[in-house]
Amino acid sequence: MRRPRALRSGWSLLLALGAVTTLVLLSLHARPMSSLQTRSPRDAPETTQAPKTPAQPPARPRPAPCLPNTSLAAHPDFAAQPTHVRDFLLYRHCRDFPTLQDAPAAKCASRVFLLLAIKSSPANYERRDVVRRTWGQERQVQGLALRRLFLVGTAAHPHEAAKVNRLLALEAREHGDILQWDFHDSFFNLTLKQVLFLEWLKARCPNASFLLNGDDDVFAHTDNMVTFLRDHNPERHLFVGHLIQGVGPIRSPWSKYFVPRLVMAAEHYPPYCGGGGFLLSRFTAHALQRAASVLDLLPIDDVFLGQCLRHQGLRPASHSGVRTAGLQAPSDRLSSFDPCYYRELLLVHRFLPYEMLLMWEALHKPDLACGRQTRVY
Ligand SMILES: *[C@@H]1O[C@H](CO)[C@@H](O)[C@H](O)[C@H]1NC(C)=O
Ligand SMILES: *[C@@H]1O[C@H](CO)[C@@H](O)[C@H](O)[C@H]1NC(C)=O
Ligand SMILES: *[C@@H]1O[C@H](CO)[C@@H](O)[C@H](O)[C@H]1NC(C)=O
Repeated sequence: MRRPRALRSGWSLLLALGAVTTLVLLSLHARPMSSLQTRSPRDAPETTQAPKTPAQPPARPRPAPCLPNTSLAAHPDFAAQPTHVRDFLLYRHCRDFPTLQDAPAAKCASRVFLLLAIKSSPANYERRDVVRRTWGQERQVQGLALRRLFLVGTAAHPHEAAKVNRLLALEAREHGDILQWDFHDSFFNLTLKQVLFLEWLKARCPNASFLLNGDDDVFAHTDNMVTFLRDHNPERHLFVGHLIQGVGPIRSPWSKYFVPRLVMAAEHYPPYCGGGGFLLSRFTAHALQRAASVLDLLPIDDVFLGQCLRHQGLRPASHSGVRTAGLQAPSDRLSSFDPCYYRELLLVHRFLPYEMLLMWEALHKPDLACGRQTRVY
């Protein structure tokens, strides 16, 4: 959830316009699988240490399939809920899902300064591809190691799932950056994705100093992030992003963010950071994991993490360099595509894959001369 959702009706026109734009953008993203084959051999593999055959951890026994909690269906309001809400309620208690693709053991074998944990849907191949080639490159920044992982579930329909699972297996083999679980990757299951990731982190990468947790359509200025994070202690609380407070559940069934009273009765959300992208320390990630293991899941993942922070007596904070709302995406507006502007930011939502490539290029031009020297971070 990225926008502060004040319940003002004047926004609905804006939201409708946004929805149309999103549809157009989504249709631009949809490209046939064949683009995989057209990938040029010139796209040299990155200089990462990820081995070609990932060393897998000892296999966990495959959990028994989680059965729906049908006692909920007896509630008088249940039948009237949209399908995804009913699905959420029926499977809310399910948290144990098999790992389909795990990160190679080498991912966290050496000291990781910043782990990029990027939420991605199975079919978002182009977005992952461009993130790998741009801001998500596994590299050293100021002598500190960046590592990358995409967090993915499975497609809803068996045929599509089989297809994208093959794609993800291929990507895992080639790049060693896929963490995939066998659950339906839907908007209302993003919280499940976060919870499974926090568990994975505790078990497999507990020593990563800092994390970026975000979407696959943001532009993250990873160089600036390292500069910012260097001054922080990974053993202290840190959770910064686009701070949202004073909002509560949307009760309009047509909204993507609709949360009925049956799911959450309270009218207020705790303060939280928009899920487009936020930074946190190892200390805070472990605190979140402890809270997540005891709290009931809420379908909006960033709000759920806000609940986890509150449970642990911690607060999220605002960072002016994180723009997941209220900033014009670069698109065709040349002025807002000015690399000098982005040079000062930590993270901007939302970019098309080709825009990421252009911005990355522009920011790394050795002759990039910018007049303005103010730093917002
Ligand atoms: C199933 O739902 C009922 C009614 O909400 C609840 O009391 C019970 O704890 C749930 N069971 C599980 C396994 O979550
Ligand atoms: C979440 O994933 C589980 C496992 O695939 C599925 O049973 C459930 O319907 C999903 N929930 C939503 C809201 O998509
Ligand atoms: C994490 O660091 C601690 C202390 O430096 C060390 O004892 C432990 O083995 C490390 N764990 C991993 C998984 O690297």
